[in-house]
Amino acid sequence: MAISGSLRLSIFFISCLIATFLCPSSAIPDVNSPELATQVCKNTTNFSFCQAAVYSDPRAPKADRYLLSYVVFGLAYRNATNTSNYIDILLKSMNGHADPEIMEAMKKCQGDYMEAIKTLSEALTDLDSETFDGLVELATDVENSAHDCEAGFNGKSPISEKNQNLIQLSNICYVVSELYTVSE
Ligand SMILES: *[C@@H]1O[C@H](CO)[C@@H](O)[C@H](O)[C@H]1NC(C)=O
Ligand SMILES: *[C@@H]1O[C@H](CO)[C@@H](O)[C@H](O)[C@H]1NC(C)=O
Ligand SMILES: *[C@@H]1O[C@H](CO)[C@@H](O)[C@H](O)[C@H]1NC(C)=O
Ligand SMILES: *[C@@H]1O[C@H](CO)[C@@H](O)[C@H](O)[C@H]1NC(C)=O
Repeated sequence: MAISGSLRLSIFFISCLIATFLCPSSAIPDVNSPELATQVCKNTTNFSFCQAAVYSDPRAPKADRYLLSYVVFGLAYRNATNTSNYIDILLKSMNGHADPEIMEAMKKCQGDYMEAIKTLSEALTDLDSETFDGLVELATDVENSAHDCEAGFNGKSPISEKNQNLIQLSNICYVVSELYTVSE
């Protein structure tokens, strides 16, 4: 019947209208444009690592590139600081009882991590002053510090996992930093 047909149509449109106004847009997933954080993770060397790290921060889902920069450089900064403290403790406990080569390499790592922390705090200061053009290089420098530390052990690194964490975190920083280099 024509009347019930148009009535059904009206109810349909009214329902759509109500849904549009009442439902927060975040409740409707947009499959065509995933969150920036997820898009970034797709461009990193390890998607699952990146997702776990970035989404540990509650700001990640709604973050634009600026907020996301704070999230990822902050993660790397805290991670490097934590590992640096760990290296200090390890060095004290090894004093005198460890393989001298491991001891030497660990001392070098202490310097590498101090360098990484310095670089990361420079990146965070750059973000504060909205200076974005050096971020790609800073992210690369941090990754290199972790590689340098790892290389010093000639394959016998006792902190391989921690170096891998910083390498992968700085790779995320790198991908986010690249978002500022795209010319528009
Ligand atoms: C991911 O990489 C592609 C190809 O290099 C680039 O065009 C795109 O902007 C990048 N997207 C993000 C979110 O990093
Ligand atoms: C990626 O990260 C996950 C966990 O974070 C780890 O188990 C896996 O080994 C990593 N893959 C590569 C290729 O590094
Ligand atoms: C360092 O990064 C790894 C990988 O994301 C994480 O499991 C670990 O909890 C982090 N440590 C700190 C202190 O952030
Ligand atoms: C590293 O961080 C973990 C928690 O993420 C903490 O339990 C641990 O004490 C920290 N280690 C150092 C050496 O700071």
